[in-house]
Amino acid sequence: MNRCVVPGTFDPMHSGHVSVVQRAAKIFDEVVVAVAQSQSKSPKHSHEDRVRIARDLCSHIDNVVVEPFDGLLVDFVKSKNAKCVVKGLRNVDDFQDEISMATINKRLSNDFETLFLMSDPDKLDISSTRIRELESLGIDPNSLNL
Ligand code: PNS
Repeated sequence: MNRCVVPGTFDPMHSGHVSVVQRAAKIFDEVVVAVAQSQSKSPKHSHEDRVRIARDLCSHIDNVVVEPFDGLLVDFVKSKNAKCVVKGLRNVDDFQDEISMATINKRLSNDFETLFLMSDPDKLDISSTRIRELESLGIDPNSLNL
């Protein structure tokens, strides 16, 4: 089975993430969405909530499973026997972050590749950071289709 992992903190998952997962699901037999504990980032939403939200948002995609993980991504990818990690890219800030993570992962393991999918043009403005800001101001992000 040709399986990929789409990892992230997903604090919280939004439609930009779902678009990347959906597109990965057309390329791979199975997509494992890996929701990181990411304790060092002090996520606003609990790990359990982030997993639940991701499961809700991806429930319409047949070949997607959502799983929590803690520890190194390379170990999780190996445990899933996946040959690819897929991440979305919106802009140069994402690129800088992602290239650094992908390079560290390459140093840790040569057993999988990292693939980047460009964000859908209509999702470029959507980020978990903005969603958290709106939530803290009492605005329901769902009302803005985020
Ligand atoms: O949503 P994010 O912040 O882009 O996701 C980052 C994530 C969770 C993929 C990254 O922090 C990660 O892989 N965490 C697991 C710990 C790890 O493997 N670190 C070494 C690679 S930088």
